[in-house]
Amino acid sequence: MTVAADRLDYSHYTGPLSRVYDLVYTSRGKDFAAEAQEIADVIRARRPGAASLLDVDCGTGEHLVTWRHLFAEVEGVDISADMRAVARAKLPGVPIHDGACAISPWAGPSTPSAHCSAPWAT
Ligand SMILES: C[S@@+](CC[C@H](N)C(=O)[O-])C[C@H]1O[C@@H](n2cnc3c(N)ncnc32)[C@H](O)[C@@H]1O
Repeated sequence: MTVAADRLDYSHYTGPLSRVYDLVYTSRGKDFAAEAQEIADVIRARRPGAASLLDVDCGTGEHLVTWRHLFAEVEGVDISADMRAVARAKLPGVPIHDGACAISPWAGPSTPSAHCSAPWAT
């Protein structure tokens, strides 16, 4: 993970959206728990002993709600202070870091959503 000198455009993920993000996506059928379980299964298939997970671009932390029960150590990182605030409120004790990640080949100022959920497990 690198920290970008010039942070990408994450303006969609501030203020009002951060407060209604979970509601908007779950009402559209996004199943955070099922997604988290599916990703954990993929991780465990490739790395059976995986014990720690970093949720890159964790947003409101909704996947971490499940992952915290599946891995011994979980942490999140997100560029948006508002999204981090929501995640921290629902995940006491889980470190949620301020970070700008540039690990996607699609990363660019016009493609902030290319950074959705990239768990890093060890
Ligand atoms: C579509 S949301 C996905 C959030 C969560 N992973 C999910 O699946 O609900 C994208 C998230 O990526 C964050 N983000 C965008 N660019 C980022 C960057 N360069 N570094 C870290 N976080 C970034 C935004 O703040 C936002 O919370």
